[in-house]
Amino acid sequence: MARITIPEIQARKGQEPIVALTAYDVVSAKLAEEAGVELLLVGDSAAMVVLGHEDTLPITMEEMLVFARAVARGSEKALIVGDMPFLSYQTGPGEAIFNAGRFLKEGGCQAVKIEGGEEVAQIVEAVVKAGIPVLGHIGLTPQRASALGGYKVQGRDLESARKLWRDAEALVEAGVFALLLECVPAELAQKITQKVPIPTLGIGAGPHTDGQILVFHDVVGLWPRFRPKFVRTYAQLASEIRRAVEAYVRDVKERDFPGPEESFKISPEVLKDLDR
Ligand code: KIV
Repeated sequence: MARITIPEIQARKGQEPIVALTAYDVVSAKLAEEAGVELLLVGDSAAMVVLGHEDTLPITMEEMLVFARAVARGSEKALIVGDMPFLSYQTGPGEAIFNAGRFLKEGGCQAVKIEGGEEVAQIVEAVVKAGIPVLGHIGLTPQRASALGGYKVQGRDLESARKLWRDAEALVEAGVFALLLECVPAELAQKITQKVPIPTLGIGAGPHTDGQILVFHDVVGLWPRFRPKFVRTYAQLASEIRRAVEAYVRDVKERDFPGPEESFKISPEVLKDLDR
């Protein structure tokens, strides 16, 4: 089965909304794709929701590639985008091309995502020129949360809105195939969406972007630690899983599990012969 292509994603601009979601393993990739998700981002949010770090900075290329390969094995149709982790691209175009290439060559991805605007535009351009499609990511860029003064909505004042505008222009110029806008006021995201010739994907960017993206664990209620305002949670899997595991614990303690239907049998003759 052929995967959805970048030109097909781009053709959706202003037409049908693009549905994107993060995935980190075979199960999340398969379930998301079966439900109709078209773009799977192997997000560096794995650092937090899978590996338990406080932020996204510690995750390495090697760890990201393990997740990317699992997502590639779990999906057939979705476009898979590998998220370039902190310090895998900021050091310069050579290292950026090398690491981005690893997502395609070893990770089974079709594109990569790079955080940042004007300041990384040259690096993004080099990666694109190497033949590696790039999804840009501006607004709240979690790898820069410390420099941004925390996890805050971006583009609320004139200076910051103008900066976002310049970031979007610089990345379009650099050749990104689509632009992710994170934590941006809805009207500003709408203006950027109208202005750029490529699709925008929003997370906390209101309803006017060309598509939406969320973190898998937030959508299915697997991440009870923190729920940002922009998340809509469609299931409460954490409590459902806890309920199931508590029932298992109870059944084992009470010797109710395994029952006859979950046990294997041996013929009475063999058993008799054993005692001889
Ligand atoms: O890593 C991530 O989950 C992201 C989000 C913006 C989707 O980059």
